[in-house]
Amino acid sequence: MNRNAAMKISGLLMRQLRGEFLPRGGMVQIRHWSNMNTSSKTKEEQKTHNQPSHTDATNAAGDKAKKIVSYWGVDPPKISKEDGTPWKWNSFRPWETYSADISIDVEKHHMPTNFMDKFAYWTVQSLKYPTYLFFQRRHMCHAMLLETVAAVPGMVGGMLLHCKSLRRFEHSGGWIKALLEEAENERMHLMTFIELSNPKWYERALVFAVQGVFVNAYFIAYLASPKLAHRIVGYLEEEAVNSYTEFLIDIEKGLFENSPAPAIAIDYWRLPADATLKDVVTVIRADEAHHRDLNHFASDIQCQGHELKGYPAPIGYH
Ligand SMILES: [Fe+2]
Ligand SMILES: [Fe+2]
Repeated sequence: MNRNAAMKISGLLMRQLRGEFLPRGGMVQIRHWSNMNTSSKTKEEQKTHNQPSHTDATNAAGDKAKKIVSYWGVDPPKISKEDGTPWKWNSFRPWETYSADISIDVEKHHMPTNFMDKFAYWTVQSLKYPTYLFFQRRHMCHAMLLETVAAVPGMVGGMLLHCKSLRRFEHSGGWIKALLEEAENERMHLMTFIELSNPKWYERALVFAVQGVFVNAYFIAYLASPKLAHRIVGYLEEEAVNSYTEFLIDIEKGLFENSPAPAIAIDYWRLPADATLKDVVTVIRADEAHHRDLNHFASDIQCQGHELKGYPAPIGYH
């Protein structure tokens, strides 16, 4: 076959291909055609995905916008509670819930002895007074702002330990997980309070500003001295315990309405169905006392010349 004949045949073949498979031309159509192999299977899967599950049914508003058409096979899990009713929370699962240990000593205090301890203690004290002045007895707003700050150190510390583990090719002793757990637990406190209160625009603006400063300040503090950073958080947690004790006193005195506990709190802390705000604040205070212990312990380990990785982290310490 000479060269001209070969070119004519290849030209004919190309026109044939364009006519059959690429009527409107271009790579987009080729990509579409490549997906056609899975279309018969995915149509069935998409039908299944589009059926409202129990989880969808309970998650009420906004579900129409959530329907995703995809052939990737990432099915939303169908999880039930122990009583067989559908699990309605996507952000945490039944095996992550727990009963708080409310027998923990809420008055424990680390006495500042050396310069670092005193620096950490007075840093927290100097932050505490303007906060108390600003919020006074508006406990719900105070708690919300506190939680937006309290959820930062665990994530920053966990991330920096994660990076250190990667850089040095070494284990962390479980401290990455323990700190990330703390951050998640603090965020659940916030998710609980947001069910009970609606922050005003200036409170949201304050959170925005405080986060901008605190994330960066804590990042630098943890890089410079992890033992100081953990000590500061230990004292912050002591103040969190104190402010929740004040909250409880005002609920008991009737100065603050003891409203029913939000559903998210009942499921997360395995509280009885008739639990109230007082029960919720009690378990949150217990969580803060555990965070206090964990952070003071982390600081103590390093103050005594050891590394965190050498001591098993208190994972699941609630
Ligand atoms: Fe908290
Ligand atoms: Fe805390």
